[in-house]
Amino acid sequence: MRAIVVEQYGGPEALRLTDVTAPTPGGDQVSIAVQAAAVGLIDVLFRRDGLGGLVPVPFIPGIEVAGRILEVGDDVEGLTPGQPVVTLSRPGTSGYAEIVVVPASVVLPLDDDSGPIAPDTAVAGIPNVVTALAALDDAARLRAEDEVLVLGATGGLASVFPSVAKALGAGRVTGAVSRAGSVERALALGYDDVLLTDELPHTAARFDVIVDPVGGASRVAALSLLQPLGRLIAVGNASDAEQVLVGTNDLWLSNTGVVGLNIAALLEARPQRVRSLAARAIDLVRAGAVIVPVESLPLEQAAEAHRRLESREAVGRIVLTPVTSERRL
Ligand SMILES: NC(=O)c1ccc[n+]([C@@H]2O[C@H](COP(=O)([O-])OP(=O)(O)OC[C@H]3O[C@@H](n4cnc5c(N)ncnc54)[C@H](OP(=O)(O)O)[C@@H]3O)[C@@H](O)[C@H]2O)c1
Repeated sequence: MRAIVVEQYGGPEALRLTDVTAPTPGGDQVSIAVQAAAVGLIDVLFRRDGLGGLVPVPFIPGIEVAGRILEVGDDVEGLTPGQPVVTLSRPGTSGYAEIVVVPASVVLPLDDDSGPIAPDTAVAGIPNVVTALAALDDAARLRAEDEVLVLGATGGLASVFPSVAKALGAGRVTGAVSRAGSVERALALGYDDVLLTDELPHTAARFDVIVDPVGGASRVAALSLLQPLGRLIAVGNASDAEQVLVGTNDLWLSNTGVVGLNIAALLEARPQRVRSLAARAIDLVRAGAVIVPVESLPLEQAAEAHRRLESREAVGRIVLTPVTSERRL
C-alpha cells in the first residue's frame, strides 16, 4: 500500500510517499481503508523531532482517520467490514496511509438512517469537537452566558470552539488571531468578535473561559484577562514556546484557575467518558451545528499540507485523501 513515511526527522521534505506492506488487524483491532486522514500541528512536531524522541523513526504520521472498515479481529464485536467509521485522537500514529490498523476501542461507527457523514468532514470535525466538549464542559465547567476567548482562533482545533461553545450555551465568543487578514475568516467560523493577538495586553475585555492552544506570550497576556472565577484551559502549545509557569498564590489572590486538557491522555484514562463525548460530537456534526472548514489534498501532497500548516495559512483542518473513488485499493 502507499503511505507517507518519515525515515529521518526534518522539514516537510521528510514526508516521503513510500510503498509499504499493508498491516492486518490483531484480535482486538480493525483495519480501515483511509478515505481521509487529518493533518494537525502535532504531526508537524512529531516530524521535526518526534516530540523529543517520543515517536521514533521510521514512522507513518497521522493520529485520526475516517474511512471504511476492511477487516475486524477475532475479538471485535459490533463493527463490521464496509462500515463507515472515524477514529478518536489516539496515542500512536499511522494515519497517512491507504490502510491503518487501530484498536477497536478508538473506532466510532458513522452509519445511521440519515446516511454517513462525509469522511473529510468526519475526521476534520469529530475528534476536535470531542476535544472542545471535554475542554469546555469537563475542564472549564462552562456555564450559560459565560464569555469565552479562543486564542489562535482559526487553527484546526480552535475553529470548532465557537460552534461548540454556542451549543453549550456560552455568551459572546471572541477569537484572537495574529494577522488582520484572518479577522474575516474568524468571523466566518462563528466568532462574535475578533481581537488581534497584539491587542491582548491592552484590551479592557474580560472573560470567564479562555481556551489556549497557542501558549507562550499569548498565554501570559491571556491570564490577565480572566474574570474573577475565570478559567484558562491549556489545550496546546502551537507557538512551541517554553512553558508558562503560573504561581498558585497568584491564582489564589486573583480568584482564577488554569486547567489542562489533553484528549489522547483522557482517552487512555477515561475511555467511557470520551466515548460519551464522542456520541455528542457525532450528533452535533451530523446536525450541522458545527462549522467544519476542511481543505482536502491527495496523500502525495502531505509535505505541502505541512508547509501550509507551518506557514499559518490554513483555516480549519487540512485532510489527506489516500483512498478515493478514483483511487481505490
Ligand atoms: N488538547 C488536545 O487534546 C489537543 C488536540 C488537538 C490539538 N492540540 C494542540 O493544539 C495546538 C494547535 O493544534 P492545531 O492542529 O489546531 O494547529 P493549527 O491548525 O496550526 O493552529 C494553530 C494556531 O495557533 C496559532 N499560532 C501561534 N503561534 C504559532 C506558531 N508558532 N506556529 C503555528 N501556529 C501558531 C495560529 O494562529 P495565528 O496565526 O492567528 O496566531 C494557528 O492558527 C497544538 O499545540 C496541538 O498539539 C491539542
